Amino acid sequence: MKFFVDTADTSEIAELAETGLLDGVTTNPSLIHKAGRDFLEVTKEICDLVDGPVSAEVVALEHEEMMREAEVLRKIADNVCIKVPLTFDGLKTCKKLTGDGTMVNVTLCFSANQALLAAKAGATFVSPFIGRHDDNGFDGMDLIRDIRLIYDNYAYETEILAASIRHAVHVLESARIGADVATMPPAVIRGLVKHILTDKGLDAFLADWNKTGQKIG
Ligand code: E4P
Repeated sequence: MKFFVDTADTSEIAELAETGLLDGVTTNPSLIHKAGRDFLEVTKEICDLVDGPVSAEVVALEHEEMMREAEVLRKIADNVCIKVPLTFDGLKTCKKLTGDGTMVNVTLCFSANQALLAAKAGATFVSPFIGRHDDNGFDGMDLIRDIRLIYDNYAYETEILAASIRHAVHVLESARIGADVATMPPAVIRGLVKHILTDKGLDAFLADWNKTGQKIG
């Protein structure tokens, strides 16, 4: 499973990139607002920090204007992945861009039928939003399960990018189902390393080690 971090905070990205755990980055207009940085400048900086896909989202609603924005964004770096909304204009833009060899992430996916459309439009990634689905009384994991089933039925190559992940169980369930990618806030990635028995075991080993009075090297 690939791990993307869902942030535009370059210091977080730089630190996580050093662990070797990061396969890519996703951003969205809200995350750019939160970072308080110039969109093009911060996207360039992120693209230099990671080798994998960096999703940068268009904000236009109509195809022609989406294409114009995508032209600007894809000049930033080879690893830019254009993020488009799951609308007819977004799908049309997706078809055109992937046809030209540009990576596209179709975002704001809330139904398996929408994901089917994204695959048919040749999307590189589709982003089903688990947490926002849960927030509205649906089961976000059912959405991932349905998309996996449909994509496998027809051997679609579009990768399922599990998004709007809020906690470790979302990651675990996405991995069980076979989502190709999980994009998570930095805190969720960091949280995955934690286990109370790891901490307890480490404390016990160090206490015994200190009793030996030895040093390594
Ligand atoms: C994905 O690409 C989105 O940026 C993100 O996962 C949305 O998450 P949220 O619902 O926590 O805002």
